[in-house]
Amino acid sequence: MKKISFFDAKPYDKVCFDKMKSQFGFEIEYFDTKLNEHSVQLAAGSDAVCAFVNDTLDKPVIEAIANQGIGIIAMRCAGYNNVDFETAYGKVHVVRVPAYSPYAVAEFAMGLILCLNRKIQHAYNRTREFNFSLNGLTGFDLRGKTIGVVGTGKIGRVFMEVCSGFGVNLVAYDPYPVENSGIHYEYEAFGRQQKEIHYVSFDELCKMSDIISLHCPLTKESHYLINKKSIELMKDGVYIINTSRGALINSEDLVEGLKSKKIGAAALDVYEEESDIFYEDFSNQIIQDDILARLLTFPNVLITSHQAYLTNEALGNIAETTLTNLKDFFAGTPLANEVCYHCSKNTECKKQAQGRCF
Ligand code: NAI
Repeated sequence: MKKISFFDAKPYDKVCFDKMKSQFGFEIEYFDTKLNEHSVQLAAGSDAVCAFVNDTLDKPVIEAIANQGIGIIAMRCAGYNNVDFETAYGKVHVVRVPAYSPYAVAEFAMGLILCLNRKIQHAYNRTREFNFSLNGLTGFDLRGKTIGVVGTGKIGRVFMEVCSGFGVNLVAYDPYPVENSGIHYEYEAFGRQQKEIHYVSFDELCKMSDIISLHCPLTKESHYLINKKSIELMKDGVYIINTSRGALINSEDLVEGLKSKKIGAAALDVYEEESDIFYEDFSNQIIQDDILARLLTFPNVLITSHQAYLTNEALGNIAETTLTNLKDFFAGTPLANEVCYHCSKNTECKKQAQGRCF
């Protein structure tokens, strides 16, 4: 029976994977610890490593995995910015879950907007303290406002569909738009009419949007996309929503933008230094990250712990696709969800011809 070493395991992961593992005939050893240079030795004797968004998959870790004779790393997430593909190429296959529920993330992004705008988190706290005052809770109608969507992939498009029910204007930026456009989002609320995406440049999107929502991967090009310069272009009082990856935003510049009131509010489900903090309970400890601590002091900032994906449907899909990816690897069949040094950079990859990247 093939054995999988499963890092950064949480109770909700175990429920879903345990439900399905017998169908696939795998044994899973769960480790609460994150994968890193120290913990990688725990994988000795197993046939696969399963990792998540905040695990470390740098050169030493990947070399250690390869040296243990393990041929596959199954990422149980869509993003793969934490993987050193240059080291992995030719040694260890890397598979991922390209989509598990774009609805989960898109709906959560809208939830963050509604919460921030209508101050629902403050109202909740107030009424629990028997404070029924409305002072300071005024929001604005979304109808007629402009929402800028950065990244029109699976999540960005569902997000546009969700937004369209609110009667907002939508503009989008994506360096890889499909020309003319073939890509549509749908007004489900109004009987599935289709509407083409209105693409603009990133600078135009910054200038036009009342709310900017990030739905692109973290790459060299998108790193710190939201920075002092782009913030200066934005409307006064702009809302920034990030459910993608923390380092899309320069957090120090975000703090400055919030202090100067240029930024009206921000909701962050991800944070650039989240890997040692998110998913863990630090309620009895002193947070050492001064930027995060400062962000948490703003009444107009809402931070959640990378939970946009966390629905029953998404967890079930993650388990099923991850285990299918592993089954395909062990069966020697094509790896539909493999990512490598080449295809992660949109350059030519052997997968098309041979079903595997190498
Ligand atoms: P996708 O691959 O379907 O779409 C990404 C889109 O971003 C593509 O259209 C691509 O052309 C575009 N893009 C690439 N570079 C860009 C840039 N520099 N500027 C603007 N657009 C750019 O990915 P999907 O499934 O829509 O996911 C988007 C991101 O959401 C993921 O990369 C991941 O970081 C994040 N995510 C967050 C989750 C959470 O729980 N908070 C869960 C799942 C994904």
